[in-house]
Amino acid sequence: MRILVTGANGFLGRRLLAQEGAAEWVGCGRGAATVGVPYWQLELTDRDAVAALVAEVAPDWVVNAAAMTNVDQCEEDADAARRANVEIVEHLAAVCGDAGVGLVQISTDYVFDGAAGPYAEGDATNPLSNYGRLKLESESLLRGLERALVVRTLWLYGYVPGTGANFTTWSLETLAAGEPLRVFADQWGNPTYVPDLARTLVELCRAEVSGLFHMGGATFMTRHDLALALADFFDLDSALVQPVPTGEVGLKAERPLRSGLKTDTLEAILGRRPLGFSEGLECMARDPDFRRDFPQFAR
Ligand SMILES: NC(=O)c1ccc[n+]([C@@H]2O[C@H](COP(=O)([O-])OP(=O)(O)OC[C@H]3O[C@@H](n4cnc5c(N)ncnc54)[C@H](OP(=O)(O)O)[C@@H]3O)[C@@H](O)[C@H]2O)c1
Repeated sequence: MRILVTGANGFLGRRLLAQEGAAEWVGCGRGAATVGVPYWQLELTDRDAVAALVAEVAPDWVVNAAAMTNVDQCEEDADAARRANVEIVEHLAAVCGDAGVGLVQISTDYVFDGAAGPYAEGDATNPLSNYGRLKLESESLLRGLERALVVRTLWLYGYVPGTGANFTTWSLETLAAGEPLRVFADQWGNPTYVPDLARTLVELCRAEVSGLFHMGGATFMTRHDLALALADFFDLDSALVQPVPTGEVGLKAERPLRSGLKTDTLEAILGRRPLGFSEGLECMARDPDFRRDFPQFAR
């Protein structure tokens, strides 16, 4: 099974491509090649370039992990946000549909308003932010395709070498430096271990299923709980973890507060449940890349 991954240099993209032997991988992204698989450098907003790429690579599936993911930036630069989060998907859907190639679109819990999470696939959407509205629009572009998967996920954590700081590594380094870590105490979700998501995406492609699936970790918690659990797991000073209400920070984009994604549909297909937060941390602590790059947190 050949899988073409867009956004190959991003957090999820890199992790997908690191799964040696799970598929025949091809990556593509805007930047120069930095991944150890065949790689195409291109701007996905160029429809002709997307068509040429898919024709040349002839994948079984395309996993679209390219997106503008900075939620506040999506409020500020609506044109760039639309190009990255909708236009790219329009091109991929048209090209994959014509070629009979399967398309996986990664979406988000931000399609919900966070009034009454956790949410199942059939629950009513009501995005609060431009990012959430555009991702919801992107989902609709796959309707009518024969082989199409929309996978909504949330709160990705873990360590993927070559990507910049993420919430996990930044929190660990802040706490290890003895600095206060201010985290939202009123945002609820179920953090998703990024290798668990990457594995799940391969399994779904291999199972040749289509439709909408929610993928999140098995532990529902606040961001404040998450930071406390992280401090506890790595023997760091949990007194440094300070709760902050979201409304106090003046973020550009409104956040869904009581969010979270239920995974019963996915579990029925996979025959297993996603990892809980402490299980994910155990995996991360054992990960050779993490141990090499963060020896100070080795356990
Ligand atoms: N991270 C999370 O917690 C989270 C939660 C829910 C859903 N998701 C979804 O999961 C997917 C992957 O997220 P991520 O965290 O891996 O994101 P990421 O690390 O920000 O990576 C996104 C990638 O998309 C690429 N990209 C953006 N615009 C592009 C364009 N016009 N042409 C080509 N490439 C472009 C970026 O390239 P550059 O490196 O060149 O900028 C980047 O490599 C996204 O769809 C996101 O919405 C993520």
